Amino acid sequence: MSDDHAFDGITIEAMRKKRGAKWQRYGDQVLPCFVADMDFGLALPIHQVLSEQLAAQDYGYTMGFADRPLAEIFAAWAERRFNWTVDAGRIEGLVDVVQGIYLTMHLFTEPGDGVVTLTPTYPPLWQSIDRMGRRLIDSTLVRGTQHYEIDFDDLRSKLDANTKLMLLCNPHNPTGRVFNRSELESLAELVLEHNLIVLADEIHADLVYTPHRHIPFATLSPEIAERTITMTSATKSFNLGGLRFAIAIFGSQALQDRFNAWPKGALGGLNSLGILATETAWRDCDDWLDALVRYLKGNRDFVYDELKSRIPLIDVFSPEGTYLAWLGCERLAINPDPFEHFLEAGKVAFSPGPNFGSGGDGFVRMNFATSRSIAGELLDRVVASLPAPTRP
Ligand SMILES: Cc1ncc(COP(=O)(O)O)c(C=O)c1O
Repeated sequence: MSDDHAFDGITIEAMRKKRGAKWQRYGDQVLPCFVADMDFGLALPIHQVLSEQLAAQDYGYTMGFADRPLAEIFAAWAERRFNWTVDAGRIEGLVDVVQGIYLTMHLFTEPGDGVVTLTPTYPPLWQSIDRMGRRLIDSTLVRGTQHYEIDFDDLRSKLDANTKLMLLCNPHNPTGRVFNRSELESLAELVLEHNLIVLADEIHADLVYTPHRHIPFATLSPEIAERTITMTSATKSFNLGGLRFAIAIFGSQALQDRFNAWPKGALGGLNSLGILATETAWRDCDDWLDALVRYLKGNRDFVYDELKSRIPLIDVFSPEGTYLAWLGCERLAINPDPFEHFLEAGKVAFSPGPNFGSGGDGFVRMNFATSRSIAGELLDRVVASLPAPTRP
């Protein structure tokens, strides 16, 4: 079976049998496209290795992080995929990226310190700031002609002596931006000027569409690497969200030592299936990932073209990376909360825009990591839910 067939062949009936949140939360009448899980099955090497472990009923404690090959496997992956030379000794395991975000804030800033992020953004990235008693500094991305852009004047004007940390999401959820070198270098200038530490959440790094390329923030210069903690996992690209495993890559020994001052026991242990699947993904699944990205690029173009032609009043850019489309619904004559409208009238569950912070009102986020036919049915429902004057 070709990979394309594996991606294309999935059906709603099969999906409804899944136990995860995506297909369970809203019940049997709704088509879900909210949480960032894909509907696709696993790459064969991952499926095989997990099946073997289950068949052997091998659920015991795993060897510790330092005794597993994960760090070397990731370093080879980073070199191969991103031309990024990573010291394997500078990698630590986490339960998940969100844990890493909270812990970084706890360890590297004090209550009341400013933490800056570009909104709209992945909810934990902006919500964690207030929840940790830090001061949220959000600079809202602006609509350019081709894509969303960083408003550097706004960003610069908001940074102050008390700003300590930047939470950077690149590729960017939910706008689908893959920031280019010039944008990243401008960010790097501000980071150095204000002596910031950077947490670069690069979990969507594999999901980038040509001609765009992911540039790890830590590769910009040695000075930037020294103040950058990169977090990533195989959960988005290989559909392993429920297995809970992620890594942090420290650009300097000083950052890593500060992180390791936190007692290991308070981090939680390793999930044996999560680390095994991740090792396999980053060692044996390049071809599957390349086929996935080709299929997703087709979906991206399909969704974009359909929306542009069938609902011209929706504001949408073609995402440069991620399997997420950020849909501006302000010009549609629907309930001020488009999420509620599409759920009630269309039986489609998007992610609500306001969850993504400033710049999110009037928007929904669509996950298009599904078969083209399910994406088509979803869009049919969206079109049919609209009041007649909004439809072509
Ligand atoms: C930008 C970003 N960071 C982190 C996560 C979640 O990562 P984890 O499940 O490892 O906490 C997501 C999931 O969608 C995400 O989009």
